[in-house]
Amino acid sequence: MTTWVSADNRSVAQKLAAGVVGIGHVPKHVAFVMDGNRRFARGQKKEVKHGHKSGFLKLREVIRWCMDMGISEITVYAFSIYNFERDPEELKGLLEVIKGPFAAVLKERQKGINDGIRYQIVGDLSLIPPDMMDVMQKVMDISKNDVKFNVNVAFAYSGRREITNGLKRLVGEMRDKKIGPNDVNEFLFQNYMQIYPPTKLDLFVRTGESRLSDFLLWETDDKAVISFCEVLWPDYSYWNFLGSVFDYQGNII
Ligand code: FPP
Ligand code: MG
Repeated sequence: MTTWVSADNRSVAQKLAAGVVGIGHVPKHVAFVMDGNRRFARGQKKEVKHGHKSGFLKLREVIRWCMDMGISEITVYAFSIYNFERDPEELKGLLEVIKGPFAAVLKERQKGINDGIRYQIVGDLSLIPPDMMDVMQKVMDISKNDVKFNVNVAFAYSGRREITNGLKRLVGEMRDKKIGPNDVNEFLFQNYMQIYPPTKLDLFVRTGESRLSDFLLWETDDKAVISFCEVLWPDYSYWNFLGSVFDYQGNII
């Protein structure tokens, strides 16, 4: 058990059900919109920070569940560019909740404890507070050769901005004559998106609401399955998880 991966807490019935679902086609790359933390906190009559902490605890469980299911990569929406507009007190708490696990995994690595996960941050890195970016960069560097599982954390992220920034880079390279207008097509352009190497997104799970929320707009291609799950992220259960995979299996083409 490490900071980012919880112990296996599934019941016998859940393990049996997983065996059945696992016979079908399992997605390789899954995205999660982790929404509903504040509503969860309010429902428990606790402060907002408790909701975000519970959100991270759920993420640890989900990483364990994904590893056991044979999923190899997840991309999670931890913080959008719009979240900077939140109440300063909440913002401070949320940034602590996100920075803590990065600092903790760095400590583990320095002690020789390796969870095998490759961590990647995707987002407008220029907006990330320097102390936080420093820790995140160290985690990215130290884990860059790990292959057991990929965790892409979307932070200061916006899908529209990811596409716009990709376009800016492409235009710059065209100006420098590294590529010509005839080279441009969707296969080339995907290399200007941030998840590296660009892996096909199979399943997009959205908790809390029925909106895409400017998440992975390029990556949700013609075959990606979008699964809406009404529960609040901290309440997302193993049964909900199996339901999301089942939804994928019923909708792939
Ligand atoms: C949306 O719920 C959730 C967030 C803005 C934060 C998500 C972050 C985490 C779960 C922590 C992840 C930690 C790491 C280290 C990756 P909301 O605040 O919009 O809640 P609401 O919809 O009920 O208002
Ligand atoms: Mg919300």
